[in-house]
Amino acid sequence: MFIRSYGCQMNVYDSERMAELLRPHGYRSVETAEEADLVILNTCHIREKAAEKVFSDLGRLKPLKAASNASGRDLTIAVAGCVAQAEGGEIQRRMPLVDIVVGPQSYHRLPEILARRDRLAGGGVDTDFAAEEKFDVLAAAREAQGPAAFLTIQEGCDKFCTFCVVPYTRGAEISRSAAAIEREARDLVEKGVREITLLGQNVNAWRSAPAPGGGGGIRALPDGSWGLGQLCRHLAEIEGLARLRFTTSHPRDMDDDLIDAFATVEKLMPFLHLPVQSGSDRILEGMNRGHTAAHYLTLIDRLRRARPDIALSSDFIVGFPGETTEDFEATLALVDRVGFASAYCFKYSRRPGTPAASMGRQVAEPDKEERLARLLALVEAQRVAFNSSFVGQELPVLFEKRGRRAGQLIGRSPYLQSVHAAVPQSMLGKIAAARIVSASANALAADASAAREGIRVF
Ligand code: 5AD
Ligand code: SF4
Repeated sequence: MFIRSYGCQMNVYDSERMAELLRPHGYRSVETAEEADLVILNTCHIREKAAEKVFSDLGRLKPLKAASNASGRDLTIAVAGCVAQAEGGEIQRRMPLVDIVVGPQSYHRLPEILARRDRLAGGGVDTDFAAEEKFDVLAAAREAQGPAAFLTIQEGCDKFCTFCVVPYTRGAEISRSAAAIEREARDLVEKGVREITLLGQNVNAWRSAPAPGGGGGIRALPDGSWGLGQLCRHLAEIEGLARLRFTTSHPRDMDDDLIDAFATVEKLMPFLHLPVQSGSDRILEGMNRGHTAAHYLTLIDRLRRARPDIALSSDFIVGFPGETTEDFEATLALVDRVGFASAYCFKYSRRPGTPAASMGRQVAEPDKEERLARLLALVEAQRVAFNSSFVGQELPVLFEKRGRRAGQLIGRSPYLQSVHAAVPQSMLGKIAAARIVSASANALAADASAAREGIRVF
């Protein structure tokens, strides 16, 4: 099987789970579509470009499918993920080479769908929002692929930002139970994982079920349920787990207890991706974000009081309908004020079915281009400044994989920077202090001699 993942980290997680589910059924991962008898495209619908890419990639698979049919070998093509969810019927109409369409809530049924296909030689669309516990099926097959792992704790979104397809493709917010999350986390740690990133489209909207009879401890909410801060405290008690992260958060769900966790939970890494999208209140209102620029800045101040070294990251959209030069300047001012360690910047992309797609005053493409270039330049300068500030310092690095050069390992700093260092292979999976000798926009380097002298294993 060959699985290609587009878009967000949730899709990376889902692709890994699909591979694990299929392995016991005789499927083995291969490097290219040409070698595969099953190709799965795990797609993204967030912007037009991402969705279009799927159709062009499917076009490229056509000769492969024809050749395999001609040779009597059966090549099965499946489309999974958010394009499958949003455009399942259309995919099958436009692309007859697609055998299976499976949405993000139903992919745990892939083994069954493939078996049924073998028996009946018929395809199908499975994009129901199933009530059954997808995660129970997935957890049983979970494998660890290195010292850092993702763990989905929450899915879906109830926020309905006017530009966004996620509430339609991923459905309503649902939270996994604390017990199921703890079980999966412990299992990962037993398999050698040292760092876990908790995933959710709105990860900080995570809530445990209310405790029977309410109450439930000092940190619990009035109905006895837990929020993400308390979940972090709980998971941090797992022996052998060294680092915790979570993504992606919404400013509206950034409660006091979660901010406090940055001050008090040592294993919670000082990095937070907190998308703001725009610095203009008028635009934020049009986006239905439910917060103002001032509210966001207050959150940043409080986070920095809790954890002075916290590194911040955000998403921005330029050219949302009605965005004027002044609105855009307000975004630049907010970026200036916060000082981000990194940020993702996008041109507004009209998504069919979302409220913003039919709003008047759509911004012209050249204006979007110009604003994007200006914002990218500012964000890039901040990223370089942030990374450069570590040169000459020691940082604890979790070494995750081999680098491209021989004898080089790549790891991550607490601030999610990539760190390249010439260290022995035996350091894989370990956390060590590395002295940073140079920095670029995308990575830090610890040189060989500095690494040898400066490496202290934790
Ligand atoms: N156009 C451009 N960017 C978008 N995003 C979501 N929807 C759109 C859209 N229609 C961006 C937001 C979000 C990130 C994952 O993708 O910034 O935070
Ligand atoms: Fe999309 Fe907004 Fe939900 Fe994020 S919070 S997934 S941008 S609707």
